[in-house]
Amino acid sequence: MPEAERVPSGADPTKPNAARVYNYMLGGKDNYEVDQMVAHRMLAVAPDTRTLAWFCRQFLLHSVQLAAEAGVRQFIDIGAGIPISPNVHEVAQQVDASARVVSIDYDPVVYAHGNALLAGVPDEPATSRYRAVTRTWKSAACGSAPARTGYWHC
Ligand SMILES: C[S@@+](CC[C@H](N)C(=O)[O-])C[C@H]1O[C@@H](n2cnc3c(N)ncnc32)[C@H](O)[C@@H]1O
Repeated sequence: MPEAERVPSGADPTKPNAARVYNYMLGGKDNYEVDQMVAHRMLAVAPDTRTLAWFCRQFLLHSVQLAAEAGVRQFIDIGAGIPISPNVHEVAQQVDASARVVSIDYDPVVYAHGNALLAGVPDEPATSRYRAVTRTWKSAACGSAPARTGYWHC
């Protein structure tokens, strides 16, 4: 699909975005030429950046897997970034399909991409989407508690 057709509402493909640069570093497809240009400028001065991003991602996913295997069934993924498979909810729900994951990010671009990517996924039990309106831990944890996995913008 041409790039212009897959730009989710709320995302500006003409301005670089940190979450999309990170998505590009991880080999994701939810980034635009302007993000790729920034990524390559970063890699020119810090060639290990891509490897570091990959290790961060692997650490996250391995931690979720260990926690799920130890019996954790509720996760809040703060600073979730743009979804890129495998995602936190996929890893947790591979261990137990009843696991719930709420993904939170303060970047509206992440929320736009998250919603677009999760739009086709059945709504139960894994992927309903939520929007938080603050960035505090308290409101994230104590607001209208989601019963299902979701994608929050705070
Ligand atoms: C490097 S990405 C990490 C993505 C993903 N967690 C991973 O490990 O692959 C960091 C994300 O955290 C988000 N972020 C940073 N500070 C935040 C904050 N105070 N509240 C919510 N999201 C935040 C950014 O918008 C960005 O999408």
